[in-house]
Amino acid sequence: MRRVVCPGSFDPVTNGHLDIIGRTSRLYDEVVVAVLINIEKTSLFTVEERIDMLQAVTKEYGNVRVEKFHGLLVDFAREQGIPTIVKGLRAVSDFDYELQMAQLNYRMSGVETLFMSTNPEYSFLSSSRLKEIARYGGDVSGLVPDLVLELLVERVRG
Ligand code: PNS
Repeated sequence: MRRVVCPGSFDPVTNGHLDIIGRTSRLYDEVVVAVLINIEKTSLFTVEERIDMLQAVTKEYGNVRVEKFHGLLVDFAREQGIPTIVKGLRAVSDFDYELQMAQLNYRMSGVETLFMSTNPEYSFLSSSRLKEIARYGGDVSGLVPDLVLELLVERVRG
């Protein structure tokens, strides 16, 4: 069985993430979406909320499993017996950071990282920008799944 891990914070999942997860799900038997538990970073949604949203919006793919992890991503990949990580690359600005992480991850564990180019429709999109726009009342429809849009608007408006 060919399995791959798609890691991230997913606070919350965007259409850009979903595009990468969906395209990856057509290439592998199973995609494990790994949600980072990061106690040092303040998040808008709890890990469980992020997992629930991811499960709901990836259900239709039929071969996506959502898990949480803390610590090193490569340790999670090894525990799960998954040899490959897939990451989306939005622009050249992502490259330096992602290349360094991919090389360190390979050096530490032999786990490979494959980069998938983001759909240009979403190349400007990030969860942080999205939250900022939503917080100030901007329109983020079309950038996140409808279910996430509702929860996001509700959360930022208190
Ligand atoms: O969505 P994000 O926040 O850009 O995702 C980043 C993530 C979770 C992929 C990255 O921070 C990560 O892998 N963190 C786990 C700790 C780790 O393994 N660091 C790499 C050291 S080379």
